[in-house]
Amino acid sequence: MKKLAAAAGLAVAGVALWWRKNPSACPYSQRFWVEAPHPLITRDRLRETLEPSPGERILEIGPGTGYYTLDLAEWVGADGTVEIFDLQKEMLDHTIRRARERGLWNVSPTQGDAQNLPYEDDSIDAAILVATLGEIPDQDAALREVARVLRPGGRLIVGELFGDPHMVTVGSLERRAEGAGLRLEKRSGPTLGYFARLVPV
Ligand SMILES: C[S@@+](CC[C@H](N)C(=O)[O-])C[C@H]1O[C@@H](n2cnc3c(N)ncnc32)[C@H](O)[C@@H]1O
Repeated sequence: MKKLAAAAGLAVAGVALWWRKNPSACPYSQRFWVEAPHPLITRDRLRETLEPSPGERILEIGPGTGYYTLDLAEWVGADGTVEIFDLQKEMLDHTIRRARERGLWNVSPTQGDAQNLPYEDDSIDAAILVATLGEIPDQDAALREVARVLRPGGRLIVGELFGDPHMVTVGSLERRAEGAGLRLEKRSGPTLGYFARLVPV
């Protein structure tokens, strides 16, 4: 029995390692992972780190099934917009369905790859990437794209949680962000589950 458990543990670790080295989007069929509670990277902590204001245009890359989206839409209010951007149409459809059910009409979906964003330069007040950066094959390209679309004085919030095979450590994020023209302004939460706030240099 012990041998079986050890073999299963090794197999899980092996798959996680392989997945980490070969980044790809969490498939819609496995959405139960993103629907589970997100300890440490809570919605309240996101709000504290982001400091959203009514009327803002927020870009959420990789919303999954909308764990944060509905709250973001409420924080920016009817005069604001939450642009949700995801590789998978099913994730966008799911999130939009939930938003409409809650009477939120300020969420706008676009399908695409974060390595090439379809938004104008300096057009976004804040961007959010939670448990998403590590799934993107070229993280540097995605960060450069975020830096391009952020307006001067805008901010990027990156959230990461231990246990995610694609978790990006704060150190790695800070190094990559610097190369993209973004500076780590503050981190909220422990290194095992944090939100980082980055600003254009
Ligand atoms: C692990 S889920 C996180 C969902 C949500 N942010 C959360 O924390 O619950 C990652 C999301 O990023 C999306 N994603 C992965 N790679 C992407 C890419 N290159 N461009 C856009 N979206 C991507 C996936 O489709 C998925 O919806």
